[in-house]
Amino acid sequence: MNNVIKPHGEKLINCFAEGEELKELQKEVKTLKTLKVSKKTQCDLEMIGIGAFSPLNGFVSKKDYESIVENMRLANGLTWPIPIALQVKKEEYETIKDQKKIGLIDDSGEVAAVLSVSEIYQPDQNKEAQNIYKTTDIAHPGVKYLMEAGSYYVAGEVKLLKHLYDEFSEFNLGCEGTRKVFAERKWKKIVAFQTRNPVHRAHEYLLKVALETVDGLLLHPTMGETKGDDIPASVRMKCYERTIEFFPPNRALLCVMPASMRYAGPKEAMLHAIIRQNYGCTHFIVGRDHAGVGNYYGTYEAQEIFSQLKEDDLKIQTMFFEHSFFCKACNDMASFKTCPHDKSNHVVLSGTKVREMLNNGEIPPVEFTRPEIAKILIDSMKSMVPS
Ligand code: ADX
Repeated sequence: MNNVIKPHGEKLINCFAEGEELKELQKEVKTLKTLKVSKKTQCDLEMIGIGAFSPLNGFVSKKDYESIVENMRLANGLTWPIPIALQVKKEEYETIKDQKKIGLIDDSGEVAAVLSVSEIYQPDQNKEAQNIYKTTDIAHPGVKYLMEAGSYYVAGEVKLLKHLYDEFSEFNLGCEGTRKVFAERKWKKIVAFQTRNPVHRAHEYLLKVALETVDGLLLHPTMGETKGDDIPASVRMKCYERTIEFFPPNRALLCVMPASMRYAGPKEAMLHAIIRQNYGCTHFIVGRDHAGVGNYYGTYEAQEIFSQLKEDDLKIQTMFFEHSFFCKACNDMASFKTCPHDKSNHVVLSGTKVREMLNNGEIPPVEFTRPEIAKILIDSMKSMVPS
């Protein structure tokens, strides 16, 4: 396993209980108070469990929380941009406040994890919103969740009794799984691509340019909780399976990431990079307005934030891309870095415009999206709209 990039904090975390420990916990949960957790927390639990949030092995302590919000670091100095916290409401707090351990219930109604409670604290959530999301506006989906999920934060290590995400199992390899595939394929340099959208031409351009300089590509869509008007995971998955066919099979791997989107722009770009390091990738693509929403972040802020880090804070390296598009005058894909022509030549469509076209059964220009992908999107829109 030489030349394999180390996880963030050196050790890949695995929080799944196995063997005797699992049997013991399964007995113990019958005696525990329980808490039903949100879809977002279920995603966080799965991410902690599989080691994608290494070195975290649970929900952050007050000390770590404060250090993250203030300094973008865990209390031990390791870079960490967004607190992974379990928020509960007052009524829930009242039922669990004296408990040393609690069972966390997922959507199936089963206890999926056991949390060993180390402390419960009430932080300054306005400060968290401002420092992490750069706004306290509850029109921001990340801030909305933060403000509505509860003001009590329950910290402690978790043990998972089962997976909380088991969709697209063929593509759900976890951090150990991707690391194994990279080793089998003898890929030493691997670039990861985060996305919450179908892969359009601009995305594909980034992927191909990046792949030219490394051994392999990990197409790594976020498949957990996303905001209501994002294209559903099941539809995107059909697009990704088609997209991966535009690459040589021995150069690209499609794998799902069971995370939820926070839409925290720059801070989330950094979290995304750390996660991909944990999955074994050496490079990470950050384009324009990465993980952004609305107009809360500058176009390249998610790139600029990395300049605040010291050289060895992260092992994974970033690959930055300028806004890319098809240019009619170049008759090619290009970016502001490579295209000499003015904007009137560029085929650029907003997400809203594309959704509108697809809803009307209109195929967006081939320069914007491949017809194969447009067809999948249009067909699935039709099946979603009641006739
Ligand atoms: S994100 O929330 O996952 O960032 P999206 O799926 O749109 O949203 O973007 C995935 C990645 O592609 C991000 O790194 C983003 O910055 C980049 N990206 C998307 N569109 C473009 C574009 N036209 N030019 C350059 N980079 C882009």
